[in-house]
Amino acid sequence: MTSNKTVAVYGAYGHTGRFVVSELRRRGWTPILSGRDAGKLQVFGTENPGLELRPASVDEPASLDRALAGAAAVINCAGPFASTSAPLIEAAMRARIPYLDVAAEIEANIDTFNLFADRAREAGIVVVHAMAFYGGLGDLLATAAMGDWTYADEISIAYGLDSWRPTPGTLIAGQVSKQRRDGRRVVFADGKIAYTTEAAPATEWTFPAPLGKQPVIAEFTMADTVTISRHIKAPRIHSYMTAVAVRDLTDPNPQAPVASDESGQSPQTFVLEVLARRGGEERRAIARGRDIYAFTAPLVVEAMARVVAGQVKGAGVFTAGEAFDARDFLASLSPANLSVELR
Ligand SMILES: NC(=O)c1ccc[n+]([C@@H]2O[C@H](COP(=O)([O-])OP(=O)(O)OC[C@H]3O[C@@H](n4cnc5c(N)ncnc54)[C@H](OP(=O)(O)O)[C@@H]3O)[C@@H](O)[C@H]2O)c1
Repeated sequence: MTSNKTVAVYGAYGHTGRFVVSELRRRGWTPILSGRDAGKLQVFGTENPGLELRPASVDEPASLDRALAGAAAVINCAGPFASTSAPLIEAAMRARIPYLDVAAEIEANIDTFNLFADRAREAGIVVVHAMAFYGGLGDLLATAAMGDWTYADEISIAYGLDSWRPTPGTLIAGQVSKQRRDGRRVVFADGKIAYTTEAAPATEWTFPAPLGKQPVIAEFTMADTVTISRHIKAPRIHSYMTAVAVRDLTDPNPQAPVASDESGQSPQTFVLEVLARRGGEERRAIARGRDIYAFTAPLVVEAMARVVAGQVKGAGVFTAGEAFDARDFLASLSPANLSVELR
C-alpha cells in the first residue's frame, strides 16, 4: 500500500477521460493529465489548473515513461485500445505500477489477456482490463449472480439502453474491430468466441421496470463475453441489446452524447440484466444507472483505488470479476451512480 495519490490518466482530454479526471479529483486523487495532443492537453489543463500536463505518444516509449513517472497507477482512456493498450502496459511494467483501462474491443481484449497474462505476472504488476461499463459491469454482475455456483449452463446479458449516442472514440474503435472481423460478427458458443456471417436475430427481452418488454438484437456480443468467459465456466453466453440503441449506434449520422446538467452526464439511462441458468435454477443481477460513459469513471476509479490499496492478490491481467469481490465492489458504488439488485 502506498500513500502516493497521483494517478496518470492517458487520453485525459477525451470524453471518458474527462469523467475519470473529475472522479479522481472528487475522491482526493491528483491526476497527471496525459495524451498524444499537446494542444488539447493544454486547453484541458486550463480547465483543471494546477495539474501536471505530460504529452506522450504510444509510438515514443520514452514519452510514456515520462508520463507515468512518479504515479501510483495509470488509467488508460485512449482508444482504439488495439493501438494504445500494449504500449501503455509495457510502460506500466517498466514503471512497475498497476495499469487499468476501459477497452471494449473484443479482439484487442483477447490480445491483451493473451499477450500480457504471463508477462504482467512476471513483472509483478496488476493489469485490470476492460474496467468499464462494457467488460467490467457485466462481469461483476455475472460474478455476483453466480454466488457459490462454480459453473452455469448459460449466461445471458441484456443491455437495456434507452439510447446510445456514441463518442467518436466508440465509433473509431468499432471500425477497427469491424476491419479485423472482415464482415463477420462475433458470437459465443460451445464455450468459445466464434465468427458468423449470419444476420443477428431480432427478438424481445423483458427488462425489469421501468423499461419492460423491448425489441432487442440478439448475439450482440460485447467485451463482457470476453471477460466473463475468462473465469466463469458457461458453455453459452447470450447477449441482447435494445434495438433503439443499435439504431442510434448504426445511424449514418450518429449523434454524440450531450450533457444535460452541470455534471456533464447525458440523460441516457441503462438497465443491465445478467441471468445465470443452471438446471432449472436461475440467478439474476440487475443494475440501473445513467450515462454509460460517465458511469465508467466511478467504476475504473474504484478499481484503481482497490488495486493501489493492495486488495488484488497476485499479479497478472485480471477482469473485474476476477480481481475483486464482486458483491462488495458493486455495493461500494454510490447509489447516485448505480443501483444493484440480486434475485
Ligand atoms: N468499455 C466501455 O464501456 C467504455 C466506456 C467508455 C469509453 N470506452 C472506450 O474508450 C475509448 C475512448 O472513448 P471516449 O468516449 O473517451 O472517446 P473520445 O472522446 O473520442 O476520446 C478518444 C481519446 O482517445 C485518444 N486517442 C485515440 N487514438 C489514439 C492513439 N492512437 N494514441 C493516443 N491517443 C489516442 C484521443 O486523442 P485525440 O483527441 O488526440 O485523437 C482521445 O483522447 C473508446 O475506445 C471507447 O470505446 C469504453
